Amino acid sequence: MTGETRVLLVVAGGIAAYKALELIRRLREQSIRVRCILTRSGAEFVTPLSLSALTEDKVYGELFSLTDEAEMGHIQLSRDADLMVVAPATADLIAKMATGQADDLASTALLATDKEVLIAPAMNVRMWDHPATRANIATLLNRGVKLVGPNEGDMACGEFGFGRMAEPHEILAAVLDALGQPQAAGGAGPLGAPLAGRSALVTSGPTHEAIDPVRYIANRSSGKQGHAIARALSGLGAKTTLVTGPTQLPDPTGMEVIHIESAQQMLTACETALPADIAVCAAAVADWRVASRSDRKIKKTGNNRSGAGIPKLELTPNPDILASLSQRGNDRPGLVVGFAAETEDVIRQATEKRARKACDWIVANDVSPQSGTFGGAENTVHVIDAQGVDSWARMDKSDVAQRLAERIADYFRNGLDKVAPTAI
Ligand code: C5P
Repeated sequence: MTGETRVLLVVAGGIAAYKALELIRRLREQSIRVRCILTRSGAEFVTPLSLSALTEDKVYGELFSLTDEAEMGHIQLSRDADLMVVAPATADLIAKMATGQADDLASTALLATDKEVLIAPAMNVRMWDHPATRANIATLLNRGVKLVGPNEGDMACGEFGFGRMAEPHEILAAVLDALGQPQAAGGAGPLGAPLAGRSALVTSGPTHEAIDPVRYIANRSSGKQGHAIARALSGLGAKTTLVTGPTQLPDPTGMEVIHIESAQQMLTACETALPADIAVCAAAVADWRVASRSDRKIKKTGNNRSGAGIPKLELTPNPDILASLSQRGNDRPGLVVGFAAETEDVIRQATEKRARKACDWIVANDVSPQSGTFGGAENTVHVIDAQGVDSWARMDKSDVAQRLAERIADYFRNGLDKVAPTAI
């Protein structure tokens, strides 16, 4: 056995299996040796020949192949790897893993392994949401299995939701993280990790400002865009810290995730995460909090009809995290990106916001009711920087995240970070 890093990749049956080919290419670019197990249903989607050509190795399929057993028993196969990756991980294979079934080579190797296992689930949204799958995933996570994705988006079955397999660059980031080679391996090739060696801080989700122990003030925010940006930056190699308010989203893998509730906690977490090369503030921070929160639940003693006794909440402004990061001294991130959700006169208002907050870029989006942006899958954005306005076509929020991360990588690649931001 040489000292090279080895991944044993299980390709199970699902339309996302074609992405395994791109994943192998990316792993090989990082000088990682890949050996494949192709399940019987996986072979309906990709051929052993394609996997074999890309891995430059033989592809393993049958449990009781005498030659395979002689050359490489299933125990040995799993022991030889530094990490097992299952991509795509089908609902069926996840269920087998959770219950310890071993009726084919893939499930047997997964049961026999003494290494870490990373799974990239891919399935229909209802299958992903099913209590059986949720329970199986919880079991696997409790056992230390690592998870990347699934992402939200359109599915091959025509439905929409969580269940799309994570993109190859996201799985690569999770693999490097699991291998303890956080994004540094392989240098900065165009398909590799152009943000390797850079650090990124991303805020996401809403903040909750407590009124008393049971009530709070908040903004509507799913955190989808912010989480997608953190994933995209991490996928391009940035050492990423995600500071997130309460959301329904699973924690992205391959990065540090800090959970906070209030704007003040978000600011403290961001300041603690400094220095960072990149800061992207995508959180919907509540503008105000109550001036003095009650330690006890405020009782409903008021008279609803007359209004007498109904508590009057005195509000006080929250810190502006974006402005605060933009206006720091020596440890100001090299690139600070904010968001501006506007309902009218989008570009003018966002341009003014960029100047007011002293950030480098503002990503402006139209959130008027007719735009369908809130809660929708797509977004139409304009990136405003010192050079002007860069308007993008309407696209999926995950594509906005990827394109923004690539624009950030270009910014650093071209040395534009030496350009001073146009301040207030
Ligand atoms: O002022 P407004 O809320 O419209 O600004 C939006 C931008 O500022 C977003 O990037 C948001 O994350 C950031 N922001 C912040 N802290 C606040 C308010 C907004 O970081 N208190």
